[in-house]
Amino acid sequence: MDSCGQRLAPTVPPAQRRAEPLQLLLRRSQEAKNSAYCPYSRFPVGAALLTASGEIFSGCNVENACHSLGVCAERTAIHKAISEGHTSFKAMAISSNMGEDFITPCGACRQVMREFGTDWDIYLTKADGTYIVKRLEELLPLSFGPEDLNKA
Ligand code: THU
Repeated sequence: MDSCGQRLAPTVPPAQRRAEPLQLLLRRSQEAKNSAYCPYSRFPVGAALLTASGEIFSGCNVENACHSLGVCAERTAIHKAISEGHTSFKAMAISSNMGEDFITPCGACRQVMREFGTDWDIYLTKADGTYIVKRLEELLPLSFGPEDLNKA
């Protein structure tokens, strides 16, 4: 309100305000990519995970001389969030240096994501920041999850 009791116009248009959290998530995934430890593949990946409470946990791929011990960016971000007490997620953004294709998570990461529900959004980006968004259900249809263990 101003001094005459009139409602003041917001300085940022509503559409722009709504876009902000997504832009931040995308940026955080690009920033995380800069920390990738990938001397073997030279394929840096970054991920940023948005929790239900609005916090963002980022992660990068971490490779190892014993190649099978490498971990993807997506799982690094998820494990960071879980270990800080967060188990409910809204979205994840994933970034790589691929210019022509959208980065897509590997099968193992899709299954790890699925452990925490099927009802969230995965933003797959190109190096220039353009993206497509998929529901986890689309990336891993007919999935097996924790609830299924009680059905037998
Ligand atoms: N990688 C990820 O971290 N996320 C993906 O979505 C695809 C692949 C990593 C694993 C490995 O360190 C490198 O990229 C090449 O496969």
